[in-house]
Amino acid sequence: MLLEGKKLVITGVVTDTSIAWHVARIAQEEGAEVVLTGFGRGMRLTERASKRLPSAADVLELDINDQSHMDALVADLESRWGVVDGALHAIAFAPQDALGGNFLNTPVESAVIAFQTSAFSYKTLAVGLAPLMRSAGGGALVTLDFDNSQAWPIYDWMGVAKSALQSVTRYLARDLGVDRIRVNAVSAGPLSTIAAKSIPGFQSLEKAWLQRSPIEWDSSDPTPVAQMVALLLSDWTPMTTGEVVHVDGGFHSLAAGFRE
Ligand SMILES: NC(=O)c1ccc[n+]([C@@H]2O[C@H](COP(=O)([O-])OP(=O)(O)OC[C@H]3O[C@@H](n4cnc5c(N)ncnc54)[C@H](O)[C@@H]3O)[C@@H](O)[C@H]2O)c1
Repeated sequence: MLLEGKKLVITGVVTDTSIAWHVARIAQEEGAEVVLTGFGRGMRLTERASKRLPSAADVLELDINDQSHMDALVADLESRWGVVDGALHAIAFAPQDALGGNFLNTPVESAVIAFQTSAFSYKTLAVGLAPLMRSAGGGALVTLDFDNSQAWPIYDWMGVAKSALQSVTRYLARDLGVDRIRVNAVSAGPLSTIAAKSIPGFQSLEKAWLQRSPIEWDSSDPTPVAQMVALLLSDWTPMTTGEVVHVDGGFHSLAAGFRE
């Protein structure tokens, strides 16, 4: 099996629609041992979603902006496993006034929250888990990106944060390669999760995909994205790091829509 015996930390599960839930599902199906992290009032939802996995996983609390949570998570993993082989960073948040076409009026505080929670947090997770990955002789980190190399109608400061996240991926890859820790990003097409539905005008992205992606995109199916995450967490990509892999039906490779 692809992930036989791997010990993985999966952040970002709220419900069984979360991309991270599908990563946890596939990871278990492929032989991994998984711990989930939950956040604030969403903890109970994460615990409920965990019970729908092939085997229920423990849920540990992690507000990525609270260093005491990160320290407690690392201490738990240290006594539980002693090592960590990989982790998924599936964390993003932007206040409502940082999204939806309000770019020119967004206050700096909201843009900073989007950056800290959605981009800087990859560094927080990586630095926290790196010692446990070194103990494993190396490891793999994967984050979830939405490609912002061009501006979107509605994505605003979340888009700016995603551009930063791609850059954070490359700098982490630079600094952690010496420990054989690979750091990559999967750039997904639009998927109708809770986070996505809270973006005003999300449907305009779904429509753009219907018109442009060479392979027909299904925004209700996170499995292809989760499969790529599983591949990058596995031993089958030993020389891939600092990479942004698109799982978007090929949308990024065309300049314009070609279907009605
Ligand atoms: N849904 C899409 O269309 C899409 C496309 C590309 C990339 N992504 C990215 O995938 C990732 C997962 O999103 P999703 O669509 O599965 O939605 P989701 O709502 O299921 O997941 C978002 C997660 O972020 C977590 N989170 C927010 N603030 C946090 C904090 N301070 N500490 C810890 N966790 C925190 C939430 O608890 C939630 O689990 C996000 O980074 C998102 O930007 C989503």
